[in-house]
Amino acid sequence: MMATLCRSVALAVLLTLVSAVDRGNFKSCQQSSFCRRHRAVKPGESPYALLTNTVTVNDAGLVGDVINENNRIVFTLEIYPLKDSTVRIKINEKNPIKPRFEDPYALVKDIHGESFEVVDQSAQGVTVKFGSHRAVVNAKPLKIDIYNGNDLVVSTNARGLLKFEHYRNKPGNEEQPAEGEGEPNALPADDQEEDKDGLWEESFKGHTDSKPLGPASVGMDISFVNSKHVYGIPEHADSFSLRETTSTDPYRLYNLDVFEYEVDNPMALYGSVPVMLSQTARHTTAVFWHNSAETWIDIKKLPDSNVVSSITGFFSSGETDPPQVSTHWFSESGIIDVFVMLGPKPMDVFRQYAGLTGSQNLPPLFSLGYHQCRWNYNDEEDVRQVHENFDKHDLPLDVMWLDIEHTDGKRYFTWDHYKFPNPLEMTANLTARGRKLVTIIDVHFKRDNNYFFYKEVHDRDLFVHTKDGNEFDGWCWPGSSSYIDMTNPEAREHYSDTYRLDRYKGSTLDTFTWNDMNEPSVFSGPEITMPKDNLHPGIGVEHREVHNAYGMLFHESTYEGHLKRSDRRLRPFLLTRAFYAGTQRSAAVWTGDNTAEWSHLRISQPMLLSLSVTGITHVGADVGGFFGNPDANLLARWYQAAAFQPFYRAHAHLDTKRREPWLFDTETLRIIRKSLRQRYQHLPLWYSLFYENELTGAPPMRPLWASFPEDEATFGIESEHMIGSALLVNPITEPGAVTANVYFPAGVWYDIEDLSMHHGPSHKVVSAPRDKIPVFQRGGSIIPRKDRVRRASTLMREDPYTLVIALDSDGKAQGTLYIDDEHTFDYRQGKFLYLAFSYEGGVLTSKKIDPNGSYDTASWLERVIVIGLHKQPTKVSVNSATVGTRDLESTFESGSATQGSQLTIRKPGVSMREEFTITIH
Ligand code: NOJ
Repeated sequence: MMATLCRSVALAVLLTLVSAVDRGNFKSCQQSSFCRRHRAVKPGESPYALLTNTVTVNDAGLVGDVINENNRIVFTLEIYPLKDSTVRIKINEKNPIKPRFEDPYALVKDIHGESFEVVDQSAQGVTVKFGSHRAVVNAKPLKIDIYNGNDLVVSTNARGLLKFEHYRNKPGNEEQPAEGEGEPNALPADDQEEDKDGLWEESFKGHTDSKPLGPASVGMDISFVNSKHVYGIPEHADSFSLRETTSTDPYRLYNLDVFEYEVDNPMALYGSVPVMLSQTARHTTAVFWHNSAETWIDIKKLPDSNVVSSITGFFSSGETDPPQVSTHWFSESGIIDVFVMLGPKPMDVFRQYAGLTGSQNLPPLFSLGYHQCRWNYNDEEDVRQVHENFDKHDLPLDVMWLDIEHTDGKRYFTWDHYKFPNPLEMTANLTARGRKLVTIIDVHFKRDNNYFFYKEVHDRDLFVHTKDGNEFDGWCWPGSSSYIDMTNPEAREHYSDTYRLDRYKGSTLDTFTWNDMNEPSVFSGPEITMPKDNLHPGIGVEHREVHNAYGMLFHESTYEGHLKRSDRRLRPFLLTRAFYAGTQRSAAVWTGDNTAEWSHLRISQPMLLSLSVTGITHVGADVGGFFGNPDANLLARWYQAAAFQPFYRAHAHLDTKRREPWLFDTETLRIIRKSLRQRYQHLPLWYSLFYENELTGAPPMRPLWASFPEDEATFGIESEHMIGSALLVNPITEPGAVTANVYFPAGVWYDIEDLSMHHGPSHKVVSAPRDKIPVFQRGGSIIPRKDRVRRASTLMREDPYTLVIALDSDGKAQGTLYIDDEHTFDYRQGKFLYLAFSYEGGVLTSKKIDPNGSYDTASWLERVIVIGLHKQPTKVSVNSATVGTRDLESTFESGSATQGSQLTIRKPGVSMREEFTITIH
């Protein structure tokens, strides 16, 4: 015990001294035996073949046997066409000696099958047609080609890298196989040549994984045909368009707490979404590799057909192989379960993936405001001073955050009685100003029988076990800790009940939650996480099976806890560090412990885009950088960038200098204030986009290609992004830069500050002095704003709106606005307004998109700005049922060849509740 303690303390000390990632703490592919084995598979020699005479068709799809001709092990192949241009391909052992784990956590319940017909069946293979798509199965070697219309878009096992390690008995422990079970006792022929190191036990840095089930990995190649760009598979601190991994390790998906992570590399980070999108001018296509175990992905770009043939060995025999991005996925256990989403456009793929794993929950509006965090705000007085200083310096703020030091010795759900003696009063002080509080609840619980939560969970035996069945003891912030077994419904129930206000003393309905360290982080564990051979008694599986989903199970229970405490009336808000496919249903995500360096500001863009396109859309990076001390220039640029990214929170490490905005010079303070105000002005836009995100899966922060899928020039861009389809943002991420080279896709674009005009497609150098982030409104869009910025968003709820109309070259524009009470679930009972604005022929109209919604807002229309009119109007009038027809005051500033004109219409005065028109004569 003492030795463990000393080792752990030494480790903790080491962690604070080292200044860059310690790669030695984490496995390389070479150090992971299944990674080595899959990388060693030679292309073009696939031993897997479909036994076509076994193929049967049922209501849901097609089922048949696949044999590994080297060892005669038989697998089951299933192909299920699904609604909305999606197809599911499963491969599992036909007669495993023990059932293989299938992740039950990522998918939503109602996934619907699509009607289909088998249009061709012969000894060569089978073809299934669904909608305008086809899945063409080539029997030998097994290969499944997916066509969208006549275009081949995805091909699986085209390179022949399929490898499925069947369960077997450990050599020396043989039992007689049951009839029909193949030959689980013998080492199969294909395994005889292979690297046997690590098949039955694997050690890393003094930790031994006992691997009682032996090798059980699964892998396959998936080619995106005619593609050059693939995206997704967060989380990596790497480029948005993913790089080839021919001379690096594969991208790794294994939720890990990586201290001082570095940018531009494929190492695993805190979360995993095994989803990849491919973008071509004709097709957006995506693949979801549904597996919650450790996974690696190799990427090889084969842009030239001559190169392709020689490398892939075969693609479609006798033909020249098309250019492609060939990807190779392999997971340590589980089964092969792949969803292919056929688009064909980006918005289609976003919706298709949301159909499988759900969409981002509509967050309460305050959570889109600004959040102030640091490790730690020391005591109640500190909290009071900080938020009062926000008021004093005229800086809007919605949420104050408390990190681990606010607790009684890192016992979550408790308070340090000395520093936080009156949490209710402290919170009341915040809520009186329209603000909220977030407290941290980590996944590890101090092993202390005097700590109520530990004792309760321990007594009910709801913690994770070691391989020997004892309660697992790992080292984390509180010292010796146990980790709740979130696979156990009883544990989830117990934990979520703890959010009830009478259980979590000192919390209120305005206390929200930050779930951290839920990878899980175990300072004393292999790769700073939980041993893979630990056991989850809840569902009776090893930790290795569920590792990547564990963090999500934890934050989903937090969400349930928030629901319970308000009788399911109020929308929860919580932030998580670890995530998995489906996290979007209940949490926001941040990119963990970044550093106060320009490279980390730069990488936040592609990291947030990667999350956004894989469904996790309420995302942000610590403003200012967690480690280190940003200078004023970096901090100001970070506030600017994050004002136009979805989740906006400043945070800093315990050892950093205080960096609240007023501690900097007046110019920096002014720039930060300007950024915060820009954020608050645009809250109606963000909120409307998040509502639409819940409806359609479309992320609020988008790559340019989401709006311009045919424009290949956008495919490699990560320095710019769109907010919805209306704003183009190019954050400045270089020290000292005062210009930016911006790519403008087709159309006309107006700088939101000075209305300078840019025509695309073109690259232009635009000015970006220190106090300006380049942001452009797309001609053809209408943006709702609230220009009366107050100290918190809740105080702006009934404030009037401004509509900013930027005309396209035909003098038209469109936009939407969503309004509700901003924090309850009443919108699901029809208490909302969802409005479409349209401007054409000089007339602006507002109409309900969804006639079922109605909400009694007091907000009215205060101002309309029209950008890009060619001449000054003679008259402007408004018409609505309650206002009748009335002339309006307006002013006009004419434009030029390089600058848009601006018509400002004052006080139309109509309520947002009613339909209206404004006519410009
Ligand atoms: C790790 C988190 O990433 C960081 O944001 C937090 O401040 C520390 N844990 C302490 O709770």
